[in-house]
Amino acid sequence: MPAQIISGTEIAKQIRQELKQEITELKDKHNLIPGLVTVLVGEDPASQVYVGSKVKTCDALGVYSERYDLPAETSQEELLTLIDKLNKDRKIHGILVQLPLPKHINETEVLYAIDPKKDVDGFHPVNVGKLMIGEPDYLPCTPHGIQQLLIRSGVKIEGAEVVVVGRSNIVGKPIANILIQKKEGANATVTICHTRTKDMAFHTKRADILIVAAGKPKAITADMVKEGVVVIDVGVNRIGKTPEGKAILCGDVDFDTVKEKAKAISPVPGGVGPMTITMLMLNTVKAAKVSAGLA
Ligand code: GUN
Repeated sequence: MPAQIISGTEIAKQIRQELKQEITELKDKHNLIPGLVTVLVGEDPASQVYVGSKVKTCDALGVYSERYDLPAETSQEELLTLIDKLNKDRKIHGILVQLPLPKHINETEVLYAIDPKKDVDGFHPVNVGKLMIGEPDYLPCTPHGIQQLLIRSGVKIEGAEVVVVGRSNIVGKPIANILIQKKEGANATVTICHTRTKDMAFHTKRADILIVAAGKPKAITADMVKEGVVVIDVGVNRIGKTPEGKAILCGDVDFDTVKEKAKAISPVPGGVGPMTITMLMLNTVKAAKVSAGLA
């Protein structure tokens, strides 16, 4: 049987429709317009594309947006001053500082400076801690998107053996924390593998659900998975350009061979990517509701 393709494009579309309706109601009934600010420091081309997509999605859903594109030489002090101003701005409910930041800026200090109530990325230590104890306010966007992909594709998470490849603060650690929660859409048994794992294939072959955020093109091959696995590929690797100059992307999973064994698999592009921005919109709407005492 061919694998079911878990389409992030389709599932993101559903969630965006739900959000658009909620945003219209907030405006009509409460005169409340969710507002998001994006802050980009430097000219990293991939980050510019991501920020551009976030602003476009705000426009499409009726979310107010502001965009700060700052030069690479911006000092940490200047960035912290801007964040302080945005923390106090009542039109702005969510603050997103695009990572990575230039080397001379301390990322942790910048993330600490964002008001946790406006931390729609879910990266502030207060929000990381709340997730850890099972009382999250804002789930980080990519892992939350992965959970929604699984739930909305009808994948049984409860009791499943989940193997996560990658231990980043943005994906690996938080997805593990989300899926071990004592809640619906979670209750899994989770293993995290990383660059020092002794026998990666031993673990990946045990997985009912395999989530790969390794940052390495085609790191997972068919011989590393079992028949009937559900695979979520978080990787975005630029492996070349089309004659028209468009980036050619591939994931961290060898899609063509792994799909022959998998029960379901998310593609790259069109898998996790569209979900991340959608969950950012969801967090922004939540932040607006919290600010107005509606959530
Ligand atoms: N860089 C890569 N992923 C993300 C993300 O989810 N949020 C931010 N702020 N930066 C990123």
